[in-house]
Amino acid sequence: MIQLEEVSKGYGGQTLFREVSWRLGGRERIGLVGPNGVGKTTLCRILAGIEEPDRGRVTRPRGTSTGYLPQEVAGGTIEGSVLTEVLGGFEDVWRLEREMEDVAAALGKESAGGDGSVVEGLTRRYGELQHRFEALGGYRLEAEGRAILGGLGFRTDEMTRPLSEFSGGWRMRAALGRLLLLRPSVLLLDEPTNHLDLETREALTVALAQFEGTLVLVSHDRHLLRATTEQFLIVADGKLEPFDGDLDDYRDWLFRTKLGGTDDAAEAAVAPAAAAIVPFGKKSKAKNETRGTAVASAPANGRDQKRKAGHAKHR
Ligand SMILES: Nc1ncnc2c1ncn2[C@@H]1O[C@H](COP(=O)(O)OP(=O)(O)OP(=O)(O)O)[C@@H](O)[C@H]1O
Ligand SMILES: [Mg+2]
Repeated sequence: MIQLEEVSKGYGGQTLFREVSWRLGGRERIGLVGPNGVGKTTLCRILAGIEEPDRGRVTRPRGTSTGYLPQEVAGGTIEGSVLTEVLGGFEDVWRLEREMEDVAAALGKESAGGDGSVVEGLTRRYGELQHRFEALGGYRLEAEGRAILGGLGFRTDEMTRPLSEFSGGWRMRAALGRLLLLRPSVLLLDEPTNHLDLETREALTVALAQFEGTLVLVSHDRHLLRATTEQFLIVADGKLEPFDGDLDDYRDWLFRTKLGGTDDAAEAAVAPAAAAIVPFGKKSKAKNETRGTAVASAPANGRDQKRKAGHAKHR
């Protein structure tokens, strides 16, 4: 899908990646982990094509599309409804639709005036536009967008409300909905659960488990990593180290090889790259995490409680 060859990248005097080669395959589900500031976001941006490496090559087969959810979803002025945001990734389609409307309006005028050849030309033009609109999914995108939003927990009446009425967690859901509707071949999510409540994290987990493309997920959220990833990529010392196994395998491996099988020497002995998700059990630094079983039963209640609490924000 995406290949890195001898990629180097740094900022100022700081080297983040030194001649890194790695290949991201189709339908892979990768947890990208490493300590703070090691370059995870930079790697996502390179994979998404937003950032260029200083040296080396990044290649993507023709037709590979990437969707990137940044670490900080934009705040500030947000115009339009939730649904507009989700459908906004298809600007080409909506441009066609506007053109169809213009042609239809012109056709209305000309029909009354009665110039046969102009009417004929406009009718043909309308037919062509409509054909392209349909081929690009114009007639089904809204229904699909609504279905995705429903899956992410939005009620039907909320989908047409201004996005600005919603809290950060719900805006992040809308941003994710937009990416899911675009169906990129590679979905890159950069710490999507930061600042999210339990309910939003569960909605995200479900949506990602259903996503069929390649997933690269930067996260310290054990529940999310466990539910959605099958391999790890560890960023450490300017290199990328693939680990073929899920979170439980990774944990076992860390305990066996790095931690000597004991809890105690753990924090001191652990490799820097592992530190990001090592603190399992007693030494956990993760503040707002819950074991999988508890999370699974939480969403409906969480939502009801939130409703009852009556937030100033719509959500
Ligand atoms: N555009 C930039 N200009 C200058 N320095 C940058 C830029 N982007 C990132 N850096 C620096 O590069 C280093 C790696 O940043 P990056 O955000 O990629 O790390 P990260 O692993 O995602 O960190 P975190 O865990 O905090 O999200 C940091 O020291 C950061 O300050
Ligand atoms: Mg980052």
